[in-house]
Amino acid sequence: MQRRGLGIISALFLATLFFCLYTSSAALKTGETCSPASVCDAGLHCDTCAINGNTRPRCTRIQPVNPTSKVKGLPFNKYSWLTTHNSYALSGSMSQTGSTIIAPTNQEDSVTNQLKNGVRGLMLDLYDFQNDIWLCHSFGGTCYNFTAFQPAFKVLKEIESFLSENPTEIITIFIEDYVTSTKGLTKVFNSSGLSKYLFPVSRMPKNGGDWPTVDDMVQKNQRVVVFTSKSAKEATEGIAYQWSYVVENQYGYGGMVAGSCPNRNESPPMNTASRSLVLENYFPDIPNKIVACMENSAPLTTMMKTCYEAAGKRWPNFIAVDFYQRSDGGGAPEAVDEANGHLACGCDNISYCPVNATFGTCDVPTISHFGT
Ligand SMILES: *[C@@H]1O[C@H](CO)[C@@H](O)[C@H](O)[C@H]1NC(C)=O
Ligand SMILES: *[C@@H]1O[C@H](CO)[C@@H](O)[C@H](O)[C@H]1NC(C)=O
Ligand SMILES: *[C@@H]1O[C@H](CO)[C@@H](O)[C@H](O)[C@H]1NC(C)=O
Ligand SMILES: *[C@@H]1O[C@H](CO)[C@@H](O)[C@H](O)[C@H]1NC(C)=O
Repeated sequence: MQRRGLGIISALFLATLFFCLYTSSAALKTGETCSPASVCDAGLHCDTCAINGNTRPRCTRIQPVNPTSKVKGLPFNKYSWLTTHNSYALSGSMSQTGSTIIAPTNQEDSVTNQLKNGVRGLMLDLYDFQNDIWLCHSFGGTCYNFTAFQPAFKVLKEIESFLSENPTEIITIFIEDYVTSTKGLTKVFNSSGLSKYLFPVSRMPKNGGDWPTVDDMVQKNQRVVVFTSKSAKEATEGIAYQWSYVVENQYGYGGMVAGSCPNRNESPPMNTASRSLVLENYFPDIPNKIVACMENSAPLTTMMKTCYEAAGKRWPNFIAVDFYQRSDGGGAPEAVDEANGHLACGCDNISYCPVNATFGTCDVPTISHFGT
């Protein structure tokens, strides 16, 4: 009897010990309370969202699921990609002219870090400046020392390094193009080494058809898709005019009015079927770090559904936000997972797509793994 009792006690002791070891070494999941001493799992960070009343620091997502790892080999337009608005406009940075920057900023980490976190769409404002091409957040089409972040070469080089280290990844660049110098874009794409990855305009669908598959793009090493806002450059430099291929809703406050998803002026109407790609902008005219965590959460996914209807029942291929890491839990990465679920397998979340399943067959978990 005594022996048996001891056996049970020691088994309980061992079980308790194991439990303690396990829980103290395990990282925290989405929604769990975090602190400097208890860190979040990879792909999450510790943050509050005071404007939503979330003052308890909790683990929030900063990375979407990589959709091509889950559902392989679909056409490029059957996926959705997390996109950063003004990807280069980093809070707290100095201009590389040495000047202080007075321009508004939209993100908080480098383009390299954004790419590591799964950002695959980059919005870049390019200007002629100091006999070179620079990234500036400026006005009136002119860059100044106090609106100039850094030469575009440096950021394009970061993108080039990421592509060379990650041979199956595809990146899309949206250029807000103020460059007027002859072959200015081509020169900087050449010198940064990005030209060799350029997806050719001749292979972009012109009448609303499917894009080549991601496998095909990877195999041909045509892994950077570039769009410019200047129509003439398609003929002069072979760089695709964005709104011949993409429909896009209004940016800024005009794109944040609940229940409506109008196209921006330059874009054809959202439901234009001859454009195979859909871009959802969701950020204010004046970037706001405090409010971003709220905007990037429920209002973003609600607008995604509004834009889905406006776009002729098409989910966005690109979801563009400010301060992409800020949310009250799932944020922009969650919105991208949802869009990918709908696009890639007809489910509410990319994580519900079973391996090799037919479209519309979903593995919806019955038990919530959500923490407290
Ligand atoms: C802008 O910065 C450059 C250094 O990159 C400097 O030579 C120039 O004088 C500055 N211009 C003004 C107007 O401050
Ligand atoms: C860019 O590179 C291509 C291929 O190396 C070359 O043919 C072209 O002349 C270069 N263009 C410019 C403007 O530097
Ligand atoms: C969607 O999938 C992601 C990744 O697995 C998960 O974190 C998230 O909670 C899921 N969302 C919903 C609404 O189930
Ligand atoms: C999915 O399909 C691929 C290609 O047909 C096959 O190689 C793989 O084994 C399949 N995986 C599963 C889990 O059925």
